[in-house]
Amino acid sequence: MTQDELKDAVAAAAIDEVRPMLGRDIVIGVGTGSTANCFIDRLAELRGDFRGAVASSEASAQRLKGHGIDVYELNEVGTMPVYVDGADEVNAHLQMIKGGGAALTREKIVAACCKTFICIADASKRVERLGDFPLPIEVIPMARSYVARELVKLGADPVYREGVVTDNGNQIIDCYGLDIDDPVALETRINAIVGVVTNGLFAARPADILLIGGADGISRHLP
Ligand code: A5P
Repeated sequence: MTQDELKDAVAAAAIDEVRPMLGRDIVIGVGTGSTANCFIDRLAELRGDFRGAVASSEASAQRLKGHGIDVYELNEVGTMPVYVDGADEVNAHLQMIKGGGAALTREKIVAACCKTFICIADASKRVERLGDFPLPIEVIPMARSYVARELVKLGADPVYREGVVTDNGNQIIDCYGLDIDDPVALETRINAIVGVVTNGLFAARPADILLIGGADGISRHLP
């Protein structure tokens, strides 16, 4: 199978997980990226079985609407049963690095409002140790250089993602070379730097279910 086929297969498996949670009043959280797009496309089959979705990015909101799925503002809905999203890296504890698509902050917010986080990924995203993928950090634009200097003190090699503006009007720094021994501690430490909006470590709140699409089919993992 190609990587795209694996993404679609894992999205289909996520549909099977989500289907029993749906109902006419139910709003679900939907993530961002190419794997989440496969999930959105398959979610169209279930239109009418649920009320709608909260999207973690403008791009996902547009894709959902394109399928005739109603999109709600997060402040309009309460706690949602499930959030489905991809990852750039995921470890055995279901801790992730996310934000390759610059949507990390809204992803973390929507995930926080959902009871169950289902991470969907092809097998290339599974890692022993987080950190080969450069850690994305969303920053307030005027703080970018200050934050970068603070990140150097943590041992990172920060690189400004030029030309990218997040849905929140902010900028992204990608951190190379971080030694991520303790993902929860590093997530907390980086978030404490003034000017950081959030960082792409999803460790304090890992996924609840991980679905991996590999050559041997779909595997389901719990923390
Ligand atoms: C978006 O900002 C990211 O967190 C994505 O969820 C992550 O990059 C995975 O994207 P793909 O499914 O495209 O690999």
